[in-house]
Amino acid sequence: MIEFNQLKYFRKGDIMNLHIGVIKGDGIGPEIVTEAMKVLDKIAELYGHTCEYEELLLGGASIDVHGIPLTDETVERAKTCDAVLMGSIGGDAKTSPWYQLEPSKRPEAGLLAIRKSLNLFANLRPAVLYEDLKGACPLKEEITEGGFDMMIMRELTGGLYFGERNTVEKDGVLTAYDSLTYNETEIRRIAKRAFDIAMKRRKKVTSVDKANVLDSSRLWRKVVAEVAADYPEVELENMLVDNCAMQLVKNPKQFDVILTENMFGDILSDEASMVTGSIGMLASASLNESKFGLYEPSGGSAPDIAGKGVANPIATILSAAMMLKFSFDLDKEADAIENAVAQVLKDGYRTGDIMSDGKTLIGTEEMGDFICERLK
Ligand code: IPM
Ligand code: MG
Repeated sequence: MIEFNQLKYFRKGDIMNLHIGVIKGDGIGPEIVTEAMKVLDKIAELYGHTCEYEELLLGGASIDVHGIPLTDETVERAKTCDAVLMGSIGGDAKTSPWYQLEPSKRPEAGLLAIRKSLNLFANLRPAVLYEDLKGACPLKEEITEGGFDMMIMRELTGGLYFGERNTVEKDGVLTAYDSLTYNETEIRRIAKRAFDIAMKRRKKVTSVDKANVLDSSRLWRKVVAEVAADYPEVELENMLVDNCAMQLVKNPKQFDVILTENMFGDILSDEASMVTGSIGMLASASLNESKFGLYEPSGGSAPDIAGKGVANPIATILSAAMMLKFSFDLDKEADAIENAVAQVLKDGYRTGDIMSDGKTLIGTEEMGDFICERLK
């Protein structure tokens, strides 16, 4: 399938104009995205590229202006961009007026809809234990010794979150249902992505399902095994989702690439990021068949600290690095960002979420500035 923006790409090493859609979003979104843009501008200056940003509305920010969380205009304009950088979507469900709206008009519905409209079926969520942040990891040292580094590959446009659902009343009793459907094509394309990525890593794929109960999981397992046959160098292991949830805290080192369907990936990726102890550090990418992607931090909109200048912008900055790598093939530039982040941590600077004794507490803006200063 030819995707909408596939033909725009330059050759590796060229000077590029990066046409980036920017969804600042809700909560801490605007603050953290501003810092990522600062870093991208600095990279552009150092490497001779130009960045052209196009601000797009999604989620609560879109509801406030248009009454709905995603407009056709946002989708169409996103498609003209080479990639989209996003902050976060959503607010406090107890206090925000957005949650007085019916479920299909709430901020999260906009996020699901844009993933579908842009065909962003492959969600990559790295979970890495940073050497300098080991202290923040909630697991015992004997478990984390030597660190861990896994990539969760979550299917993002199928399954339970996109199946038919309804709430009906039968004889005065309310009944709700959600359906979980996958076809072979959907499973095959995400499995291929997982194996391709494993080839560049430690060559192991753990495919997670609930094949002892669910038909969709049995099909998942069958198709994944077929794909695996084309990757003889990659070890395939099947694991039931309940066991995987346990293994993630028992022995996270065993994982390289975790391949799984939408809801299991949603849950397991939160767990995996938590065991790193630094969710404010974790980036993510949601990719289509070609080079287009939406890049966002793994953490949420944190409305409780929004506007205070204390949020950790590193996950968003690392998401921008992923964007340079996956959508623009600018590996050197992406490495420069990753190295600058590592250096800031080594120099002892921390935002509140990753603070520990003897380190220097700084705010969102300073963190962005300090990373820019360390870019080479
Ligand atoms: C995520 C989020 C979303 C999801 C919500 C906000 C719809 O939890 O990106 O993991 O479940 O996909
Ligand atoms: Mg989630």
